[in-house]
Amino acid sequence: MSILKIARMGHPVLLQPAQAVEAAAIAADRSLQTLIDDMIETLADAGGVGLAAPQVYAGRRVILAMAPAGRGDDDAPTPLTILVNPELELAPDEPRLGWEGCLSIPGLRGAVPRAPSLRYHGFDRSGQAVEGVAEGFFARVLQHEVDHLDGVLYPMRMADFRYFGFDEELNRLEAEARAAERNEA
Ligand code: NI
Repeated sequence: MSILKIARMGHPVLLQPAQAVEAAAIAADRSLQTLIDDMIETLADAGGVGLAAPQVYAGRRVILAMAPAGRGDDDAPTPLTILVNPELELAPDEPRLGWEGCLSIPGLRGAVPRAPSLRYHGFDRSGQAVEGVAEGFFARVLQHEVDHLDGVLYPMRMADFRYFGFDEELNRLEAEARAAERNEA
């Protein structure tokens, strides 16, 4: 397994739609299996919650997504999920704003409106069809990662650029706000 280089915003690979994988050949596709292994290692090394194949210069419809405990308020944690040819059906509910970062846009984050829940289907790495429902933070991660397969980065989904900034600055503001709350309590 290898840790792969992650493309950063500005590289054209991130704007290109990825190609569907031949579903019947998933289990036997050595290059696909190696790509998935390498993506898992790359994501673990980078410390993110999701990764899409175009971010590692592979134009195939493969994503990793997870919702660790403690992320996304009180949403249920979801372990690392591998989806090949993922399809999302977004719930028609009002989109909700939430913070997102991206390994291809290091050091920044922004508030992005996303559907609060969805149904997903696709294939796992053995070629089995999988489907499920996702809510809250995991639904957000899935939407972010599937966007990567269509050449869409989260700033392209943002509605209000006042909520876009460097992690360091936003973290400091939040720490100050928490301290002020403690002083008032
Ligand atoms: Ni991303």
